[in-house]
Amino acid sequence: MFELIRNQTKEIRKIVFVTGAGISQESGIPTFRGKDGLWRNHDPMKLATIDAFFNNPKLVWEWYNERRENVFQAQPNQGHTAIAELEEYAEVVVLTQNIDGLHQKASSSKVLELHGNITRIKCSVCNFLDDIPRRFSENLPLCKCGNILRPDVVWFGESLPQDVWKKAMGFAGECDLMVVVGTSLVVSPANTLPISAKQNNAILIEINPEKTEMSSEMDLVINDLSTSALPKLVSLFKQAKEKN
Ligand code: APR
Repeated sequence: MFELIRNQTKEIRKIVFVTGAGISQESGIPTFRGKDGLWRNHDPMKLATIDAFFNNPKLVWEWYNERRENVFQAQPNQGHTAIAELEEYAEVVVLTQNIDGLHQKASSSKVLELHGNITRIKCSVCNFLDDIPRRFSENLPLCKCGNILRPDVVWFGESLPQDVWKKAMGFAGECDLMVVVGTSLVVSPANTLPISAKQNNAILIEINPEKTEMSSEMDLVINDLSTSALPKLVSLFKQAKEKN
């Protein structure tokens, strides 16, 4: 199964990981579209919008406060750690749709957060932005300017931070290997990153227990959990590099 890696390791210098909710699932953070995807019978896709926030900011903050608590307690798993360890052997960049900061906690040094970070808070009107990695005492946090504070995450219908996206496209377009882990690849524009890598003749590997819309485009599909597949892939890569 890993013949591909063994044969090509010499040529692989730049590796990009594109990660989604699945990689943090085994750290206790639910995915969006999985069986555990509902929150108090609400569809997360309908809560993660600016309209939902302005219609019912208290409800949306309740959802985010619960998720923040969960994220503060979560620890990186073997999947996150394996990616960080690979930095010793190749140039590694992580392009993540996750807002949980677990790649950074696992010591990955180059992480681009495409959808923001749940510990950061910004004003819905002025330029206030802060990192608040603790519980709020108030139900509805207000900015000094009097307007409502919101999580610094990208909601449906909002654009990605353009500087981050530009860099992400640059890395995707020049990598030798892209590993797509734990994402359903249904959300745009993040799901265009593998296409960009493929146009540059990069090898594409997918790690996901389920088939995705792009599985047929991959050079290798590993239908397994990330905590099991990533350490194996990384150790194979290390062995091959040490031999070369
Ligand atoms: N290991 C690997 N993959 C897993 C695991 C696991 N342990 N558990 C679940 N998965 C896979 C699922 O099969 C699914 O394909 O992870 C994927 C999770 O998909 P989504 O829930 O759609 O999450 P993601 O792709 O990250 O969503 C993208 O959508 O809701 C928005 O902004 C939010 O960043 C999010 C974006």
